[in-house]
Amino acid sequence: MDGQAAKIRIEQLREILRENSRRYYVDNAPTMSDYEFDQLMHELERLEAEFPQFDSPDSPTKRVGSDLDAPVGANAESGARQGFVQRRHRYPMLSLGNTYSIGEIEEFAARADKSLDGMSFSYSCELKFDGTAICLTYKGGKLVQALTRGDGVQGDDVTDNVRRIASIPQQLHGDYPEEFEIRGEILMPYAAFDALNREREAQEEAPFANPRNAASGSLKLIDPEEVARRGLTCTLYHIPAESVTFDSHSQALDAAASWGLPVSEERRICHDISGIKAYIDHWDTARKFLPYATDGIVIKINELACQRALGYTAKSPRWAVAYKFKAEQACTELLSIDYQVGRTGAVTPVANLAPVQLSGTVVKRATLNNADQMALLDIRVGDWVFVEKGGEIIPKITGIDPAHRIPDAARPAFPDRCPDCGTPLVKAETEAKWFCPNQDGCPMQIKGRLLHFVSRKAMDILAGEMTVEQFFAAGLARTPADLYEISKYQLLGLEGWQDRAAQRFLDSLEASKQVPFERVLFALGIRYVGETTAKGLARHFGSIDALAEATQEQLLEVDDIGDVIARSVHDFLHDPAHLEQIARLRAAGLRFDGAGSDAALSDALAGKTVVISGNFSISRERMKDLIVAHGGKAGSSVSARTAFLLAGTKPGPEKLKKCEKLGIPVVSEEEFRQMLPDVVFSDGTDRAFPPQSASRSASPTLSGQMRQEEEQLTLF
Ligand code: IVH
Repeated sequence: MDGQAAKIRIEQLREILRENSRRYYVDNAPTMSDYEFDQLMHELERLEAEFPQFDSPDSPTKRVGSDLDAPVGANAESGARQGFVQRRHRYPMLSLGNTYSIGEIEEFAARADKSLDGMSFSYSCELKFDGTAICLTYKGGKLVQALTRGDGVQGDDVTDNVRRIASIPQQLHGDYPEEFEIRGEILMPYAAFDALNREREAQEEAPFANPRNAASGSLKLIDPEEVARRGLTCTLYHIPAESVTFDSHSQALDAAASWGLPVSEERRICHDISGIKAYIDHWDTARKFLPYATDGIVIKINELACQRALGYTAKSPRWAVAYKFKAEQACTELLSIDYQVGRTGAVTPVANLAPVQLSGTVVKRATLNNADQMALLDIRVGDWVFVEKGGEIIPKITGIDPAHRIPDAARPAFPDRCPDCGTPLVKAETEAKWFCPNQDGCPMQIKGRLLHFVSRKAMDILAGEMTVEQFFAAGLARTPADLYEISKYQLLGLEGWQDRAAQRFLDSLEASKQVPFERVLFALGIRYVGETTAKGLARHFGSIDALAEATQEQLLEVDDIGDVIARSVHDFLHDPAHLEQIARLRAAGLRFDGAGSDAALSDALAGKTVVISGNFSISRERMKDLIVAHGGKAGSSVSARTAFLLAGTKPGPEKLKKCEKLGIPVVSEEEFRQMLPDVVFSDGTDRAFPPQSASRSASPTLSGQMRQEEEQLTLF
């Protein structure tokens, strides 16, 4: 790879890793598996080592991922508290170097041997708990503070919530030091996780993807009572050596256990690599029987003098390493391959599989990413393939079983023309994907862009794949601006459209005119501009006009924006066709300036926690934004602290019952509207409450999900 190609790839990797780190730590909704994330991080580390001229202290390889509380609306967990107080860690909370290879564990041991020349040392082998990190401070035997890892330098103060976790003692006993810190992991055991998800589904709330997300979402809830109900537990595994005077890590933890702290019990001292390997082999299987999630093994040099001698890198200790287990796999038959064209024109091969069970769900389709990946796997139809899932992502094929190969099975040919419009595909040197260049004529791209525009996280317009297909086929819409010119008369001329459905669609179009600028910007579908980037750009520039006037250098001033995004935004906003689109959308009444969804509209709900249930004239997500915009907090379940339950049609019976029991008022949407003042803006609109539209359930299809994911996948 030459310098220029390396520079571009380094930047791409940094952007992907930053975006996914946010999804993981802040939104609690990862879209990439840990394995994939770690592989990209390792690729970046390798490139930075090979091309040190592009090194940067801001690189994700040098920084710990941050869980610091997200801005309003950015947290996937409803009722998540906004604005925890942030405090500095006395000692930075670092992460651990990790590997999936035993060979690299051997190298770690060999390095330690060499560096600790002559010093006698042993290894503490422990489980790697898959929850969310916590730092506890005890003073005079009392729990006085609990901070999340945050960005490693400062964390969110979640002390009130941590006090409600039964396994964490408020008061120690025995011979504890006057003041010390201890760190560990907050976990949600599988049983509590299953119960919570059953309850959430009964109350029409999105279930958590995994216990880790559930634990970190729960730790940041607004209501400590609710935290107490979530069944969280804790395991402690590290006392910063500066904090106490012991000779070894294991002594420190044994002492902590004697003070009443919940310290990991599965620790073992090993003296050599064969002991480490035996520990790994044992827990690779045995962990499946543990009541909580683990994702690997941590190996630490046990003697504190040796730890001090080895020290730290910017991001992790040199005296510890994590060996991570690979995600669960299933093996099934590859029936056929489809080639999907996304909204950016990227062509993604998607495998149709014989249905197979994987981590609790049935998998029928999986992504093959790109042509290179297919060639690397040397995949053939009829092969038995390994599928893996991680986070919430679409499963992917990671390998084939050569024992099942049918002799002479033909290699599938990656198409050289767009499977939709027949245009010859193109590929840039720095891209892994083939693209259909026919942006303005390729039906899949046109429909993909419309679908992205109407999606819930963008304009939240009541139209799915079928509707977009119908509009396109009838010649009613090719671009987002066309949607705003569709008349009721035209809708009624389409097959299956009745007056009610037409009105609901038009109402949702009308409501979309209140969508804040940052989401409009996301809806435009500028390449590489995901939700977070759109938010950053909207906040920095304040309006589309200011953004369009920005030079690439000015774009680079925005946090986390590198050359690739800057160029993409700049080019998009200098394309006359896009400018014409924007002008038409602006004329239709869309917001191209102004603050985000957390712009305060009034303080009518100040200090009130409102729980919502049922369906409303706007989506539940927007209803929660509205509560926050009027100074309230959106709670996730009814408790004594709930001000009232805002009940739409078909509210959850459990929630109603609880309100009755606790004497909490139940308020209808109409009554709620009346509680809010009419806020009149300079343009004469009333934005206190968007106009009525029908709500819609969100059940993304695979292709829908793929389009959302595409921004990320195209970078591979
Ligand atoms: S020791 C200075 N021990 O894994 C390093 N960490 O990927 C102190 N983790 O941030 C951490 N189990 O949240 C340590 N037995 C264990 C662990 C563990 C899980 C977490 C921890 C850390 C992350 C690194």
